[in-house]
Amino acid sequence: MIMDEAQIIELPKFLDRRGNLSVIEELDAVPFAIARTYWIYDVPGGEKRGGHAYRRNRELIVALSGSFVVTVDDGVSRSTFHLNRSYYGLYVPAGVWRQLSDFSTNSVALVVASEPYDRADYIENYKQFIAYAREKRRTGA
Ligand code: TYD
Repeated sequence: MIMDEAQIIELPKFLDRRGNLSVIEELDAVPFAIARTYWIYDVPGGEKRGGHAYRRNRELIVALSGSFVVTVDDGVSRSTFHLNRSYYGLYVPAGVWRQLSDFSTNSVALVVASEPYDRADYIENYKQFIAYAREKRRTGA
């Protein structure tokens, strides 16, 4: 399943008087096989995370607790997503510059990723990213 656009995916939720449960299953709620899961927490007020793109890695980002903002930029346009529900995931395709900001106190960002950690997959320079995105559009790759 290939999804080109960053978008919100609604995750299954099981409401119960004992509390709620949501689930992410690979190739179902998340459109890729899961290689890795990490989470970002204890972010001091005003800090930003991310600020890079991946060449191959695709992600689903969930605000497990609290709230934060994810800005995605495909080299042509920029979108902002406010995540504050643990049953919404933001799908971020490869080749997109993304940044997480405006973390509320005690927020936790869960990230489910399609690739193992590989620093060589990162594009960390914005100018380099713009050139990469332009080339990707030109070749349609
Ligand atoms: P990084 O991806 O640069 O964080 P962010 O984009 O949120 O600012 O990762 C921060 C540190 O954690 C860096 O030293 C690499 C390490 N790291 C891993 O070892 N494995 C991982 O899967 C991730 C995401 C990071």
